[in-house]
Amino acid sequence: MKNLSDLTLTDKRVLVRADLNVPLNDERAITDDNRIQQFLPTLRHILDQNGRAIVMSHLGRPAGKPDPKASLDTVARTLSEHLKVDVQLAPKCVGPDIKEMTNALPAGGVLLLENLRFHKEEKANDPAFAEQLAQLGDVYVNDAFATAHRAHASIVGVPKHFTEKAPGLLMQKELDYFEKALLSPQRPLCVVLGGAKVSTKLNALINLADKADKVIIGGAMANTFLAAQGFQMGRSLYEPALFPKIIELIGTLARRGCQLYLPVDCIVAPSLKSEGLGRAVPAQEIPADSMALDIGPATSLLYSEALQNAETILWNGPMGAFEKEEFSKGTTDMIEHIASAHGLSVVGGGDTDAAIHKMELEHKFDYISTGGGAFLALLEGETLPAIAALS
Ligand code: 3PG
Repeated sequence: MKNLSDLTLTDKRVLVRADLNVPLNDERAITDDNRIQQFLPTLRHILDQNGRAIVMSHLGRPAGKPDPKASLDTVARTLSEHLKVDVQLAPKCVGPDIKEMTNALPAGGVLLLENLRFHKEEKANDPAFAEQLAQLGDVYVNDAFATAHRAHASIVGVPKHFTEKAPGLLMQKELDYFEKALLSPQRPLCVVLGGAKVSTKLNALINLADKADKVIIGGAMANTFLAAQGFQMGRSLYEPALFPKIIELIGTLARRGCQLYLPVDCIVAPSLKSEGLGRAVPAQEIPADSMALDIGPATSLLYSEALQNAETILWNGPMGAFEKEEFSKGTTDMIEHIASAHGLSVVGGGDTDAAIHKMELEHKFDYISTGGGAFLALLEGETLPAIAALS
């Protein structure tokens, strides 16, 4: 695979796939522009080399047809403000008129194509659509780490048409940190996994059994581990169909010498909606009419101690239902534990990323990934389609 610096960009139409899929509020204002900011180094590199940047991205999940609510117009404005260069928004992403716009773009100019997902052909990886997109560039760069796990047209179909192609600087940085944290880590390597469902993280856990020295589990997925071992979990969320696999996994982790940490206490309440009723109980004493919604204080202390000697920490997924303040302490504690731990810390994006930014502790982490699903795919040991397409 080439590097971005291997490509000659001067006066070339550089077709660059970015992930500018940022969250918008009801007024369509961007609530977190981190992904836009993280894309700037690649864009600046292209412009510094006198390239002509043609940027493509998706936003949200429109139904394969134009939807003004999912227009990239706000993104174009924000990109322009950060870059201090005028960013034109093309009304579509393909067609003869759009090709004309790319030909007319001067060196140092930026053209953002309208949302790729206004065409159902993007997600279907339609070859004719990919070819139309490919006609818009002379070289191809993929900087969309957060979408690198999707085999969509702009990710895998378009690069087939290019010999001159490379990952962008963000994509490279993401892969480098992941390599440092999981593939050649300083040991002990401690992996912290949370979130609602074990089913979505089972493959990651199986892959980690070979690589991690310690695995710490939080979130509702911990309930399935406890229930599989016979704990009464009351009304908690858990996945009984996975019990046999969980028991097998616990055995595999033990045989491979990987320490498994599970909650010893939980914050329980009658439901997620009950206000002010959360209380800590031992994991053995979850009442029949309650559900576990966060890790408890004893678990938080246990996890903090387990992290003390870690030389590398990889974290993905919240410790509880942290969107409600009453059940957020396990997650905010984990942020503090990792922020104050001395090991290299790499965090998968998504929910935890937002919580770290809210606490203004991002500078205490070595790396916060822009990817949620893509980060998880790497944890599962998958080759990302975007990377295979660049190789
Ligand atoms: C993300 O936000 O995880 C990426 O932009 C991918 O979006 P998707 O899950 O809609 O494909």
